[in-house]
Amino acid sequence: MIFFIWKEEYLTNISELDSQHQKLVLLINNLYADLVKCQDVSQKQAFVVNALKELIDYGCYHFEAEEKLMLKYGYSGYAHHKEEHERFKLQIAQFLKEQSEGSRILSFPVLVFVKDWLVSHVIETDKQYGPYLSARI
Ligand SMILES: [Fe+2]
Ligand SMILES: [Fe+2]
Repeated sequence: MIFFIWKEEYLTNISELDSQHQKLVLLINNLYADLVKCQDVSQKQAFVVNALKELIDYGCYHFEAEEKLMLKYGYSGYAHHKEEHERFKLQIAQFLKEQSEGSRILSFPVLVFVKDWLVSHVIETDKQYGPYLSARI
């Protein structure tokens, strides 16, 4: 069973960025697949921690790619958009900090958080740059 199904409505029509969104979806689905086949609590925790690190690494790479294009083409929504990226990075860093201090990350709520964040950010924020950037690139 696939946890996060990619939909056409998520397309921004900037192919480089759409591929990166699909890679983020894949990372989330990989974590889900690892968690459902694992019974061991500490192993599950290791999967979540590794996946969050991968998500933050690849997420930062993707956010920078978007931000560079927005700046290059003078997109007016840049500042607000970047703030959303920064809030996401802070939230993931907070999950990892709490885990390193001894709290257990609750895997399913984290999965739902990253999925819901990505869907709402892509639909409500990323898609807004689509027509503007695709007319200029
Ligand atoms: Fe994005
Ligand atoms: Fe974005």
